[in-house]
Amino acid sequence: MPLSRVEGVASRQAHCDLPAGTYEREMSKEGFFGPAAFFHHRHPPTGWTNFEGPLQPRALDLTRLAAMPGSPWSATEILANAHCRVRYWQLADSMERLARNADGDELLFVHQGSGHLHCDFGHLEFAAGDYVMLPRGTLWRLEVTAPVALLLIESTNASYMLPERGLAGPHAIFDPAMLDTPRIDEAFMAQQSSTREWQVEVKRRGAISLITYPFNPLDAIGWHGELAPVRLNVRDIRPLMSHRYHLPPSAHSTFLSARFVVCTFVPRPFETDPKALKVPFFHNNDDYDEVIFYHAGDFFSRDNIHPGMLTYHPAGFTHGPHPKALTRMFEQTKPATDEYAVMIDTRDPLDVTDAGHALEWPGYVDSWKGK
Ligand SMILES: [Fe+2]
Repeated sequence: MPLSRVEGVASRQAHCDLPAGTYEREMSKEGFFGPAAFFHHRHPPTGWTNFEGPLQPRALDLTRLAAMPGSPWSATEILANAHCRVRYWQLADSMERLARNADGDELLFVHQGSGHLHCDFGHLEFAAGDYVMLPRGTLWRLEVTAPVALLLIESTNASYMLPERGLAGPHAIFDPAMLDTPRIDEAFMAQQSSTREWQVEVKRRGAISLITYPFNPLDAIGWHGELAPVRLNVRDIRPLMSHRYHLPPSAHSTFLSARFVVCTFVPRPFETDPKALKVPFFHNNDDYDEVIFYHAGDFFSRDNIHPGMLTYHPAGFTHGPHPKALTRMFEQTKPATDEYAVMIDTRDPLDVTDAGHALEWPGYVDSWKGK
């Protein structure tokens, strides 16, 4: 329904020129891509005194999980729906078996550690801050050089794609040439000399099948095609920003799936225009559930959040900056943000697993109190 109206005392430019003493709230469709309304409230919309029921925002401390056996299919599932599964995996030693996900593409985000990926396509090193996207069906294993902690994001029954860059052009945010792919190199050829029996754990419909080979199946000597795993480090992302306008999270889209999007928050300068908002606006992102995994730095709009934590805001309630961050709504004390975080916004509601609930910090829902 194309319309644009201004009613009562209101700004005509989103996230700027707010009437004195008011707090802006955005009510928006399609995850900040669609129609929206911007309200100017007398009170912060997160100023609740009590919040009960299943819609509560959750904060989970994934660092409380212990190291797990060396299979991605033993990783702890935290959140899931029919289109997206989020697991956390801490791996101290190299994988003894090969893995194959027959349910969907797998996006690994390396929170800590380093090592080598060997897969159908060859060899690729990885380190903290890397995304590694493994197309569905890829046979793979990890060799660990420093204990790794990984966030696994499965795109169930769908493929990962790159987002449209629109007006910013195809080389903005990160140039597609920055995507690294595995190489048939010396290290890959050397691992082919293994003469032991190899087993493959295939996950299909959530169940594991074990296939045994008398040889190493990672024995390709070459390949060609348009399909391959890709690696991208968060430090190679050059964020979009405007000195006069607080861009919505959708500007930080990194990977798209059919029913969810993965965005990356990386350090960027604060807006400098005195009338532009310098913190995330209050919003109810009513079409999407929102998940943020905190990788590194100081997450500037949240209190009591440390690296390795994950927050989950189901669609349906208004959220926004914590009270301390809100005091810097128009004036920041630092020139730039210092945060790396992975955001997953899903079009369909997610369920928190029992293992996820066990990691919950129950005080999170009350952490907006105080103003
Ligand atoms: Fe949000």
